[in-house]
Amino acid sequence: MSKVLVVVYSYTGTSRRVAQLLCSQQGWPLGTVADVRPRRGVEGNLRCILDSLLRRRPPVRYDGPPPETFDLVVLVAPVWLLRLAGPMRSFVGRSGRSLQRVAVLSVMGGQGAPNAAAEIAALCGSTPVLAAAVTQREADDGSCAGLLQSFGTAIQGALGPAAPVRAAELSTQAV
Ligand SMILES: Cc1cc2nc3c(=O)[nH]c(=O)nc-3n(C[C@H](O)[C@H](O)[C@H](O)COP(=O)(O)O)c2cc1C
Repeated sequence: MSKVLVVVYSYTGTSRRVAQLLCSQQGWPLGTVADVRPRRGVEGNLRCILDSLLRRRPPVRYDGPPPETFDLVVLVAPVWLLRLAGPMRSFVGRSGRSLQRVAVLSVMGGQGAPNAAAEIAALCGSTPVLAAAVTQREADDGSCAGLLQSFGTAIQGALGPAAPVRAAELSTQAV
């Protein structure tokens, strides 16, 4: 059976809840990316903004199973200033090229997911097999559950023996 790992970075908790729901639906394990220097309050928000504007890679630590041993890693992270959140940039910049295949689940207010997926593709040197986005509102009211189920099912199907991955056919929604 193919092995799938979900790796999440979350600043205010939304992406973590989305990742936990996906894991509970599919029975997948979860790894966590965290800031070495925690973000809090106005100063924390300012660092988020500067990380995005300057495309910085802030120091992070990873806690979870070794991602390179999985057939596919689902990366779940918020969008900041229409870009990938800095700490996930750090993680993918460090580990992306050792990952066999990736899928991307962006969490956002409403815009910027395509940029985040494109940045992950560039850092990994390969196109994600699947990219989708969940809004903060869909996460808060629970209405993302159906999309997450479809996303997980599409990944399981893509990893099945009779189903080679065709990225263009797998997008569950425009991102
Ligand atoms: C500094 C900062 C910048 C953000 N920029 C965007 C943005 O460009 N587009 C968007 O849709 N949401 C933006 N958001 C909203 C977050 O993506 C959204 O609230 C997300 O659910 C937060 O995920 P988290 O709780 O896992 O940190 C931004 C949030 C922060 C803190």
